[in-house]
Amino acid sequence: MNPSTIETERESDTILMVKDVVVNRSGKLILNDINLTIKRGEFVGLVGPNGSGKSTLMLTILGILKLHHGTVNIFGHPPQASLLYGKIGWVSQAASNLPKDIRLTVRELVELGTVNGKNMFHFTNSDRKKQVDRAIEMVDLEDVKHIDIARLSGGQRQRAVIARALASEAEFILLDEPLVGIDREARNSLLKLLDGLCHHQGKTILMVSHDLAAIRQTAHRMIFLEETIRFDGDTEKFPDLVELADLRGIGPVHGHAHHHPIPVGTLDDSSHIHEEEE
Ligand SMILES: Nc1ncnc2c1ncn2[C@@H]1O[C@H](COP(=O)(O)OP(=O)(O)OP(=O)(O)O)[C@@H](O)[C@H]1O
Ligand SMILES: [Mg+2]
Repeated sequence: MNPSTIETERESDTILMVKDVVVNRSGKLILNDINLTIKRGEFVGLVGPNGSGKSTLMLTILGILKLHHGTVNIFGHPPQASLLYGKIGWVSQAASNLPKDIRLTVRELVELGTVNGKNMFHFTNSDRKKQVDRAIEMVDLEDVKHIDIARLSGGQRQRAVIARALASEAEFILLDEPLVGIDREARNSLLKLLDGLCHHQGKTILMVSHDLAAIRQTAHRMIFLEETIRFDGDTEKFPDLVELADLRGIGPVHGHAHHHPIPVGTLDDSSHIHEEEE
């Protein structure tokens, strides 16, 4: 950061502030006491076992789910304020499961990112065209841009959905499991792309992933969520699975002599600790 940055500018570098948030779904407590601040340019990985509330937290940040308690502010405004139109990009967990019966080319899909809920099109036509072309180039889909999305591979479709978020010029991009169904090579290029967006374009990213190894490679900061935030810090300091079990209040399950070695890799592996304990 520029050392001459004055305090007020630093404050405006706060992209997301989540304070004392509690969320219930169908009367059940899902998120409790969530406190979280994300600054401009951060790439934050959000991890946790199945059902731990990751998607719920994303939907809460987007203002789609109601808070039981607490506040969420994005760029200093409550989510869904009209001022936020175009500033937030969202790639949902089901993003790559686009309906197959809709006929839409890659370019048309990406163009939808420039459609604004408020005024339909918030860019002039030539701006729009440029944005769309650039986004397609960034995700490396130029060769297939006139092809129907139904004919893409899962990974290509996922990249198309990401291009749609990029075309919107969103400053804060939230992605829920964008790596699912993407092969290793495409996954690495996608992670590199996202990392570049943070480093070179000052975008801010919050990404959910089960793929611990992949997300640890890229995210600068990791959050481990299970109803509440159990770890939030530098990626290098992210606990190993034994420490994670401690954080989750789970003791050794294979006797006290030694731990059964747990393959490090995905959080699905750690969630089986949970099942055996129950
Ligand atoms: N529409 C809903 N109504 C009520 N409860 C829900 C609803 N959707 C999810 N839940 C519950 O909220 C909890 C958290 O779900 P959520 O989808 O946020 O978890 P997650 O961490 O994203 O899991 P996954 O890794 O499987 O995507 C779960 O117990 C789930 O059963
Ligand atoms: Mg989820």
